[in-house]
Amino acid sequence: MRNISLLDLYNHPHVQKYVKRSGMVHAISTAYHAYRLSQKYGVDPDLATKAAFLHDIGHYTWYKNGHWDYDMYKENDIHAIKGAERAHRILVSLGEDRKNAKEIALAILLHTDSYLPAGSLNLNPLQKVVALSDEADEEPGGNHHYRTISDMKAITMIKKLDEMVDEYHEEEKVKHSVS
Ligand SMILES: [Fe+2]
Repeated sequence: MRNISLLDLYNHPHVQKYVKRSGMVHAISTAYHAYRLSQKYGVDPDLATKAAFLHDIGHYTWYKNGHWDYDMYKENDIHAIKGAERAHRILVSLGEDRKNAKEIALAILLHTDSYLPAGSLNLNPLQKVVALSDEADEEPGGNHHYRTISDMKAITMIKKLDEMVDEYHEEEKVKHSVS
């Protein structure tokens, strides 16, 4: 049984504020990609969908004269660091298992290397799933951050994904009880 659901996260006021700022559609589609890829990489879809849903929660808007300034973003952005910390705080405050909260925060911290000095990251499977899911939903020019969705549609999609994760856990429990 999961301590908290995606819907609990969705309803948190800080998630509403910050995830809407970085793109609710992008967050939800990245979470769906993460569900699919978690099967392939053998990671828990509960952690993968939560990390994917929250991965951009640390975004700040780098605007100059009403337009996104990509150079300013490249130079100053630390959204993965901020996001990891912000997500961790929200997860813990809602009662997420501490170990899970750390795993999710780390996957958010490492979902992009755009803020790091050149080098390659050695990602674990969960971290890889989140990074690949983000890439799968990216659009040129950062357009994935601007797609919009009604609250009602967002809630329907999140509830559906919660059910998929719960079903997966149920199936796993059955598998382990017969083996
Ligand atoms: Fe993203």
